[in-house]
Amino acid sequence: MFRVTRRYRFAASHRLHAPQLSDPENRQLYGKCNNPYGHGHNYEVEVSARGPLDASGRAVDAERLDELVKRQVLEPFGHRNLNADVSCFARVAPTSENLAVEICRRLQENWSRAFPGEWPKLDRVRVAETARNIFEVKPFEVKPFEVKRFQVKAHEIE
Ligand code: NI
Repeated sequence: MFRVTRRYRFAASHRLHAPQLSDPENRQLYGKCNNPYGHGHNYEVEVSARGPLDASGRAVDAERLDELVKRQVLEPFGHRNLNADVSCFARVAPTSENLAVEICRRLQENWSRAFPGEWPKLDRVRVAETARNIFEVKPFEVKPFEVKRFQVKAHEIE
């Protein structure tokens, strides 16, 4: 069994703001990350898949993975405002935890179309928001947005 990881990058802006809280509550909770006009990050996303080697000596067809990630993540998120352009972030704050959950959900939901065989399987998604902030989820460890929305306090702006 092998694990293969591919790394991708996209730039996007966001504002940490929970619609169900008042403005003062949001300011207190998210600090400068709640500034009204948002700020940007150069996100790095690592997608790991696992599987046995096939006859070609490979565990994952990287081109298929690239195409899936491009369609489900890089195109819809790249150079976008996550709050405004990604529908789920109208309901939950686009923390990098929630971003990792949403990326994982999208990949898992479309995985069998890209990889119709038994292998490979989606193993892990990591989102690096800054050099010091890395967020990791595995499919089925979290259901979409069961993550506690307000647990993040240390959020950095580069
Ligand atoms: Ni941020």
